Amino acid sequence: MQSFDAVVIGAGAAGLFCAGIAGQRGLKVLLIDHADKLAEKIRISGGGRCNFTNRDAGPAQFLSGNPHFCRSALARYTPQDFIALVKRHRIAFHEKHKGQLFCDGSSDEIIAMLLRECELGGVTRWQPCVVHEVRRDGDGFGLATDRGPVASTQVVIATGGLSIPKIGASDFGYRVARQFGHRIVDTRPALVPLTFDAAAWAPFVALAGLSLPASVAAGSGKARGEFHEDLLFTHRGLSGPAILQISTFWQPGSAIRLDLAPEHDLPALLTHAKKTSRRHLGNELAELLPRRLAETWLAGRPELAQRPLPELRDRELTQLAADLKRWELLPSGTEGYRKAEVTAGGVDTRGLDSQSMQSCHVPGLHFIGEVVDVTGWLGGYNFQWAWASAAACARSLAPALVPQ
Ligand code: FDA
Repeated sequence: MQSFDAVVIGAGAAGLFCAGIAGQRGLKVLLIDHADKLAEKIRISGGGRCNFTNRDAGPAQFLSGNPHFCRSALARYTPQDFIALVKRHRIAFHEKHKGQLFCDGSSDEIIAMLLRECELGGVTRWQPCVVHEVRRDGDGFGLATDRGPVASTQVVIATGGLSIPKIGASDFGYRVARQFGHRIVDTRPALVPLTFDAAAWAPFVALAGLSLPASVAAGSGKARGEFHEDLLFTHRGLSGPAILQISTFWQPGSAIRLDLAPEHDLPALLTHAKKTSRRHLGNELAELLPRRLAETWLAGRPELAQRPLPELRDRELTQLAADLKRWELLPSGTEGYRKAEVTAGGVDTRGLDSQSMQSCHVPGLHFIGEVVDVTGWLGGYNFQWAWASAAACARSLAPALVPQ
């Protein structure tokens, strides 16, 4: 039987980071992952360049059933702390958009950095290795693994969420949480494209591939989200940053609201154009929106499309403008975990200590990263949560009183 101060299960963003810090604090750490390849999600993230943090990350960009939970960890390990680490490892990076930081080279540099930090901490890594069982054993834990039994005073669950099952996602973390009496906040795909009923979407299928800036809103009260980002039409529905962002706020059965011309005062522009131009409405609209969208929009309104502007009533123009500025749509679903960047919901934070990520009722058991019910917006926030929750946990882990 091999013994460790801490076993970290899941060698993704949170697990690698936690293991490295704990190892460097002098703990004897075992890191286990069942996947063949290391940290695949980091590798594919940010289009292969890993949007590793967001300069402006703070609690406001996270959703949780317990919104204050993430404050402590985020305050104690900030984007600036991670940027300093990236600089120490001489990884070149740039800011792309709204505080989002990406590697100039590739995501592999972040993986190599995390591995190096683990090496500095003398972390033992078993991968691929399946964990068959985690059980309470006295004051510590006993694990049954492919490579034999393991004893540890502390266990850290860092197995992430359910998105992208083909690269190793599993429900392991939720099962362990339930086994030890933790509640799970319902999980659902988030940062995911939205789909629509095929018949309702048929008029827009021809727009697949079209991208334009839009405003999108969903939800109400404290659970309301609104984003001004690019929108992308797909064969089955809508995607692009605007939709990925709003998908986290969207609840099945509810509508989303889109402004397809957020930069224009359309009612004023169209009524003004009526006084100054004899063009057909379609040509006028194509100056304000992508032509394909203008044509598709008016194809469903032939009574307007073919008339010169002066022949249209003000009421018709303001109604058309209002429809474009407040397009209400009822998604039928999402593209699911196959395409979702993250899983919303997860281990209920009311059962965890926000300083250490430790279970409130099972001393020594910790949950970090995406498996926890803390979900960030698109833009580097989810990695920042992985780093911050991992750091909070790693700093709280204790070496065994009797050396292992
Ligand atoms: P992560 O998923 O990284 O790691 C979990 C690990 O646990 C995996 O290695 C898995 O193999 C392992 N595991 C699972 N079950 C196990 C079991 N039963 N036994 C042993 N091991 C097990 N975020 C961001 O901030 N910026 C970005 O650019 C992107 N881009 C992006 C693109 C795409 C396509 C996706 C799918 C996701 C992103 N994300 C992102 C989200 C980000 O990747 C995610 O939030 C973090 O990787 C979560 O880190 P964790 O360590 O919690 O889980």
